[in-house]
Amino acid sequence: MSCIVVGVTGGIAAYKAVEIVRQLNLLGFQVKVIMTEHATRLVGPATFRAISGNPVALSLFEEEFGAMQHISLSHEADLIIVAPATANILAKMANGLADDLLSTTLLASRAPVLAAPAMNDYMYAHPATEANLKILKQRGVQIVGPGCGFLACGGKGEGRMAEPSEIVDAALEILGLYRKLDGVNVLVASGGTREPIDPVRFIGNRSSGKMGYALAEAAKGMGAEVLLISAPTTMEQPIGVERVMVETAEEMEKEVKTRAPHCKAIVMAAAVADFTPIEISGKKIKKLEKGGLYLELKHTPDILKELGENKPVGQILVGFAAETEDLLEHARQKLKGKNLDLIVANDVSREDSGFESDYNKAFLLFRDGREVELSLMPKRDLASLIWLEIAGLLERA
Ligand code: PMT
Repeated sequence: MSCIVVGVTGGIAAYKAVEIVRQLNLLGFQVKVIMTEHATRLVGPATFRAISGNPVALSLFEEEFGAMQHISLSHEADLIIVAPATANILAKMANGLADDLLSTTLLASRAPVLAAPAMNDYMYAHPATEANLKILKQRGVQIVGPGCGFLACGGKGEGRMAEPSEIVDAALEILGLYRKLDGVNVLVASGGTREPIDPVRFIGNRSSGKMGYALAEAAKGMGAEVLLISAPTTMEQPIGVERVMVETAEEMEKEVKTRAPHCKAIVMAAAVADFTPIEISGKKIKKLEKGGLYLELKHTPDILKELGENKPVGQILVGFAAETEDLLEHARQKLKGKNLDLIVANDVSREDSGFESDYNKAFLLFRDGREVELSLMPKRDLASLIWLEIAGLLERA
């Protein structure tokens, strides 16, 4: 489910495809856009490039991507969305024509295809379009919309492209992710807490919040009511997610403990400080000419352990284990010692993943002894996989 190719063809609704790409991106998918030449007359490729974070593929003969771009995109795609799908692309798809990058990619791919027709009502009602849609449906192409309403040509009728959120929901359904957590209250704790030393200094860690925010976004995308308890971060508040900002381990403990009883699933992705200064200086500590600075530290509360000790029946509790050695051994101890249903073990000494990276390489260790090694993947993909597992655990709880 990691890569969705969005094919944008030359309909006025091409501007709405920007929102589709944006929503898919927020949900954690890797989105690659192919535009037909006509589509580029309506919306600039730069817009899709900025929103998707990937180069936009425009032609079969782009030096930058090599000669076989249609093959690489067709293999990479876990789903191809054609939106808007004009009468022309539907006709090409139905007849196996391959005369540009999008139609060639569609022919070369065996990924599921979702098409969102958009055209004038007469074109939509034409027997040729009707026949093409019938052929495509028989071949398993999923069609979303069109709806009835005002059309770009000025009239009113059937042919208006489905709304972006409907198209995204249809895509999630095809990928088996649609509303798996519908209405479920979940809590995600994210980021690295800060323990103040004086008004300008703190003890912190390298957590960026990327893993936690990816989890919050993925849960939202699957229909959950998400509460995100976040330590300081530069990450933007995910759309539709309630966020509570905290600073210290103690503040995080207070917020998490108050809200945990109302949640069906809790994921602690936060890097909570294990120690905090016993005393916080009210004034900036001055640099001494000689000698160092000695801080006396005390343990912070182990939030996850407390949650495990007071876990209501049916609640799913998930922790992370950030280790630099003996990853699985330490993770197993934490799984048991903190009474968790699942622990996500990540080796934070790797250069290609862990803290601050967009990627993670993890093992999933379950209470029942099941252990799954996952490949290196974007944090957003890992987040979706974790929630799929949690949805399964909730069903069985
Ligand atoms: O934020 P990023 O830059 O994306 O990086 C992601 C991450 C590396 C921070 C994340 O993937 C991760 O591993 N988070 C857990 C970090 C951590 O504190 O691990 P730990 O092994 O020290 O703690 C085990 C579990 O207990 C964690 O779920 C932690 O949230 C929890 N804990 C720890 C200490 C404490 N006082 N209270 C806790 O609840």
